[in-house]
Amino acid sequence: MSSEKPPFRRSHAWFGREDRDGFVHRSWIKNQGYPHDLLDGRPVIGICNTWSELTPCNGHFRELAEFVKRGVYEAGGFPLEFPVMSLGETQLRPTAMLFRNLASMDVEESIRGNPIDGVVLLMGCDKTTPSLMMGAASCDLPTIGLSGGPMLNGKFRGQDVGSGTGVWQMSEMVRAGQMTMQEFTSCESDMHRSSGTCMTMGTASTMASMVEALGMALPENAAIPAADTRRKRLAQLTGRRIVEMVKQDIKMSQILTRQAFENAIRTNAAIGGSTNAVIHLLAIAGRIGVDLKLEDFDKLGSEVNNILNLQPSGKYLMEDFCYAGGLPAVMREILPMLHGDALTVNGKTIRQNVENAPCYNREVIKTVQEPFMPAAGIAVVRGNLAPNGAVIKPSAASKHLLQHRGPAVVFESIEDFHARIDDPDLDIDENSIMVLKNCGPRGYPGMAEVGNMPLPPKVLKKGITDMVRISDARMSGTAYGTTVLHTSPEAAAGGPLAVVQNGDIIELNVPERKLHLEISDEELARRLAAWQAPEKPKRGWYKLYVETVQQAHLGADLDFLVGGSGAAVPRDSH
Ligand code: FES
Repeated sequence: MSSEKPPFRRSHAWFGREDRDGFVHRSWIKNQGYPHDLLDGRPVIGICNTWSELTPCNGHFRELAEFVKRGVYEAGGFPLEFPVMSLGETQLRPTAMLFRNLASMDVEESIRGNPIDGVVLLMGCDKTTPSLMMGAASCDLPTIGLSGGPMLNGKFRGQDVGSGTGVWQMSEMVRAGQMTMQEFTSCESDMHRSSGTCMTMGTASTMASMVEALGMALPENAAIPAADTRRKRLAQLTGRRIVEMVKQDIKMSQILTRQAFENAIRTNAAIGGSTNAVIHLLAIAGRIGVDLKLEDFDKLGSEVNNILNLQPSGKYLMEDFCYAGGLPAVMREILPMLHGDALTVNGKTIRQNVENAPCYNREVIKTVQEPFMPAAGIAVVRGNLAPNGAVIKPSAASKHLLQHRGPAVVFESIEDFHARIDDPDLDIDENSIMVLKNCGPRGYPGMAEVGNMPLPPKVLKKGITDMVRISDARMSGTAYGTTVLHTSPEAAAGGPLAVVQNGDIIELNVPERKLHLEISDEELARRLAAWQAPEKPKRGWYKLYVETVQQAHLGADLDFLVGGSGAAVPRDSH
């Protein structure tokens, strides 16, 4: 007989007890038809599922979970699938971001409170990835991420059309009188024709890439389309691997190191990823206890070349990215800039995973020597208008506007913007700088993706397609333009943005990382002293959120959620 002690498993505290409580935990689980031997101490794997018909991008997750289960059973584990709050970007109002932290609490407490030894996170639509990563990080069990995969390329009148990006482009054409509304709406069924997430390098694809770059998913997680059977295979392999991870006791904190985040920041620059990655990576780092700052994105990423020719910055879509070699091919290209020794969930290092990754299409995945766009990572600008920083994505901006000085045209809220932007009498031209207030974490609340304000028709009709725009909002990862975002502190928190007035001259100088409001310090102080805080919500989640949300430069997590509480077994009440 072996003298080896069986390894400690959390699930044993539920299913391994020889008492009344053990009876309760086992007996009720068995009502689903599970035989007794599944409760014999084998790893119990939670499959954290964000399936919802109201989150169309995750609509295929019930099937995907079945493939994860296959893998778990094959490897000798016991899979138990559970739902968590699902955040659908296109349906949920006022903005899915308002609920990212709420969903993360659901994830954290669902994992900690249940008989789970390891977790597979099923993630897809934009906020479902960070919310699951944040919640799981606060527990720190063995964990693997599995993304749902992007949709197949949109096809409209024989051309590829990208999620989001095509909508922004065509709606501007409608406003400029170059397309009819009927033509526009006829694209609806053509743009999104399979299951999966947006197939541009928007926030969902960016975050799926971040999960892979962090080492938290198996290689190729980011780009395999949802409809491709290789996605199911990846799900099955993920199921097998999480069981091994539990046996090897590889926790999330061993993967999510400072080095892993540095790899993610550089990879985000190389893929021309969304500005939303800044907020989400800061929040995830905060949960796992890695000291990551807004400046790190500029310091580590802004000089990295964008080597991926994907919309919204480029031409191609995620399906093309997959066929070209996917994220491993990108990471191989930038490997000298990465921490190759960083551990990943498959037990290998980043170097081992990507050093021989092939590239099959140099039109899609370029080289560092001949990039798609040089030095195109996210830049952080500062000045008296953004004392704690603001971000801009130069790869999505117009080069000639990266240094620009012009008079402000101020919108006090997104409603004010919508009410006036089409007014032919609005005093605005292409040299103006559009300023949008009260769309930050507290102001909206939830920090909506409205920073890429549509241009006024009178400017569009001149054939002009970009202007400088400044706000405390976020921008959809599928959007583009010279948009300064995440201005911190936000207007609703009394940041200087709150007191910008029509006609004030603003200077944006991205090469010098400067965002300056050309008024005297005394005038700025006088205006700030006269500023009045907006009324706060009186009850419920909105109240808790507005009272405790941190500013964008810290990741917009709730202040009391930063950090983790581990996975110690809670006491039993039976
Ligand atoms: Fe869900 Fe884009 S709307 S991924």
